[in-house]
Amino acid sequence: MGPIGVFDSGYGGLTILKEFRKLLPEYDFLYLGDNARAPYGTRSFEIVYEFTQEAVEYLFNEGCELIILACNTASAKALRNIQQQFLPTIGDKKRVLGVIRPSAEVIGNFSPSNKVGILATQGTVKSNSYHLEIKKFFPKVDVYQQECPLWVTLIEENKHETEAGKAFIKEDVERLLQQDDKIDTILLGCTHYPIVQEYIKTIVPKHVQVVSQGEIVAKSLVDYLKRHPWMDKQCRKGGDVQFLTTENPEIFDQHASLFFEENIASKHIHL
Ligand code: DGL
Repeated sequence: MGPIGVFDSGYGGLTILKEFRKLLPEYDFLYLGDNARAPYGTRSFEIVYEFTQEAVEYLFNEGCELIILACNTASAKALRNIQQQFLPTIGDKKRVLGVIRPSAEVIGNFSPSNKVGILATQGTVKSNSYHLEIKKFFPKVDVYQQECPLWVTLIEENKHETEAGKAFIKEDVERLLQQDDKIDTILLGCTHYPIVQEYIKTIVPKHVQVVSQGEIVAKSLVDYLKRHPWMDKQCRKGGDVQFLTTENPEIFDQHASLFFEENIASKHIHL
């Protein structure tokens, strides 16, 4: 038995972990942020796969049986290869899940106009994963995407509330909405973006819903554990949560409070 592993390039996955803690408070979690190498969003397919695989191997060695890639970029660029190529080499009892599919499964339900906009990193947009996945569940929904290349860096460096930071965010949101004036739903397709959700709400028309993934992914994990009782038995329950970072742990602990309300005392690791 082991904790459920939660991985992100940096702090963004904490917005997902926060919702896991609400719905699954009795479970143990082990969070890993690869802050030293964030952002992943502008990196190549090969590098995102290499970094993500290293993180997954690390978390498996720490005893995790189930890992959630709480990062859209890693889910878009590395998840399929990890599931199809890497997992079969280490036996058939460990699982790695992502955040794109659970979001794609429900996002069409939010949109009466059947026009959904996605804000995401360059890597996620270029992979076209959201378009492909949403079409599987909601063939009538039109998907519009806008890459936001600077947002993760702004958020990681706590500059998203500066005038310059807000101007970059506003420009990208406007570019998305200009693609079709019937877009009524915006999915924040990057786990860092809930940090700027309230600001985005102030700059979009009132009828446009701004949806973040945390609750959606957490509900999907609850459902997964119900449907896979053998895996549920492998997940340790003690209500404990631990944090690992590839950067300076003091900086991590301080900055992570923006994303996560609980006290954090992280440990440094090297991948
Ligand atoms: N939180 C990651 C995501 O959901 C950020 C990726 C990055 O590091 O650029 O895509």
